[in-house]
Amino acid sequence: MGSAVNALTTDGDEFWLFGYGSLIWKPPPHFDRRIPGWVTGYVRRFWQLTSSPSCPALHSQDHRGTPEAPGRVVTLLERDYWASLTDHHEHAPDRVWGVAYRIRPDRVAEVKDYLDIREINGYTIHYTAFHPAPPTAASAPSSTNEQHPHAYRDGATIQTLVYIGTPDNDQFTGPQEPQALAAHIHKSVGPSGRNIDYLFNLNQALEELSPESGDEHIRDLAQRVRAIIAAEESRGHDTQAELPETSGEFQKVASTEQQEEIEKTVPGS
Ligand code: BEZ
Repeated sequence: MGSAVNALTTDGDEFWLFGYGSLIWKPPPHFDRRIPGWVTGYVRRFWQLTSSPSCPALHSQDHRGTPEAPGRVVTLLERDYWASLTDHHEHAPDRVWGVAYRIRPDRVAEVKDYLDIREINGYTIHYTAFHPAPPTAASAPSSTNEQHPHAYRDGATIQTLVYIGTPDNDQFTGPQEPQALAAHIHKSVGPSGRNIDYLFNLNQALEELSPESGDEHIRDLAQRVRAIIAAEESRGHDTQAELPETSGEFQKVASTEQQEEIEKTVPGS
């Protein structure tokens, strides 16, 4: 953590963070706006290993495995780079859906201080233009934190900070064979809970953002893991059933300190 907080300014005086992984259902502390939408120029893939220490403002640093047997989480790849690879999942949507969070003005300095870490778990800081989704009847605000109709201006983007595990980081796996990846996610468990809960929560959160926000790569992995579980159950052996299930419900925390406490005590945080 450093003091170069001004370097993290994203959109004029405002500070926005883009979440495309567990930040979608586990928001950062001190946000006052949460807007569904998308970024372009990237592809989301489950190609990042989990393991090292967390950052409370990015509490989605999920530990869904152990250092000896790391689980898997998502990262973003630049689309041109991804197109140069051989991926079993040959297609990827132009839009990577996720959520933009605006940090409350009076807490920006505190959150920036937490975020001003150049590398967390292999992820580094990047900036990208976020496209707020047009308001729909289904996305009408359900609370003061869901003010997306007011934030939406036709065609206007919001500059956001995003953490990306680029291909040169040690925890980037590169292309994975989907069935082997699903089997690995199925068996991985760590201090943050079951890797399958991260996958299922992400899949559900994406399906719920908008009618078009589902991600085929994530959906396919979730279906494969469900098939593995069903096959285990039919053999009378469910390895996941003995483990505590982690919540996919939207969680709001009041402070970075509270988030640290949650991380220490609650599986799945
Ligand atoms: C995310 O949820 O978008 C995310 C969280 C931590 C690191 C990278 C991405």
